Amino acid sequence: MGRVSSLPEPGDYIVREIAGESIVILRDKNGALRAFFNICRHRGTRLCREESGRLGATIQCSYHAWTYSTDGRLVGAPHMQEVEGFDKADYPLHEAALAEWEGFLFVNVADDPSPFEKAWGPLIGRFARFGLPKLAVGHRVMYDVNANWKLVFQNYSECLHCPTIHPKLATVLPYQSGANDLTEGPYLGGYMEILAPNASATISGRACGLPVNPEMGAEDMHRAFYYTLMPNMLLSLHPDYVNYYMVWPVTAERTIVESEWLFHSDSRKHPAYNPEDAIQFWETTNRQDWDIIERSQLGIRSRRYEPGPYSARESIPAAWDHEYLRQMGRV
Ligand code: FES
Ligand SMILES: [Fe+2]
Repeated sequence: MGRVSSLPEPGDYIVREIAGESIVILRDKNGALRAFFNICRHRGTRLCREESGRLGATIQCSYHAWTYSTDGRLVGAPHMQEVEGFDKADYPLHEAALAEWEGFLFVNVADDPSPFEKAWGPLIGRFARFGLPKLAVGHRVMYDVNANWKLVFQNYSECLHCPTIHPKLATVLPYQSGANDLTEGPYLGGYMEILAPNASATISGRACGLPVNPEMGAEDMHRAFYYTLMPNMLLSLHPDYVNYYMVWPVTAERTIVESEWLFHSDSRKHPAYNPEDAIQFWETTNRQDWDIIERSQLGIRSRRYEPGPYSARESIPAAWDHEYLRQMGRV
């Protein structure tokens, strides 16, 4: 859903669409993070209209003024005291399961969600050495892509296209380098070697600030890690910055991709701090990717299209397809 750091103060909220539901994620007056379905318990009216903001002590419905505390309790309901048997305690906001991992927020809208720690098992602690919770957002961008969301995942999952689509990137991150270390299930990916003398995946090849975690091991200092995390997250880890993507399906042929670049919070004071170096590197790469998957989408629309076989350099897209079909009950 985004970063915990976007909700620093009690009352801060963001609204997100997930699985056709509008969800309000907020920090309540006691400082706890919560997620609520954005619907009034009276006549169902959507409560928060803005995408983000700061609430006062309460959330009031704009229809008949039912009022909720930030922890979801119904605290005001005009004329309902006249209704026999009505008890405000029976009508709190509907809560959705909320979890935090490495400074990121996750919501599950299922009635009986499986515990986050179980669903996210292979990832718990896996990236601890990058110090992700402490990183600060340095840049944010939204892309509107005319392609199915699965093409965004597929494209991110292989670098076979890098020499043709990303000539610049291919000089820094050789597509034959590295290895995949998560190769089945909903979380897939691995690392690539950053080709010396480049120190990072940046336009100049130089590091654009402090290492994300100064305690990071020597090996990690010349590697870049790329993971697809189902259902909607792509995570790119570099020695000196992290960028991640939230993939929001809009229609079968349109996807909003939201991306943020994260840097060490002390980098700002560092003389070598040059976030544009990393931002432009991926701005260029991302736009090359959106362009080619939009062309892919055009071809996929053809009545003659059916998927061709994958090469050995596309084992991650193949594993992703398998997991997707498994989740859909098809294999
Ligand atoms: S619908 Fe919210 S108060 Fe009536
Ligand atoms: Fe690409």
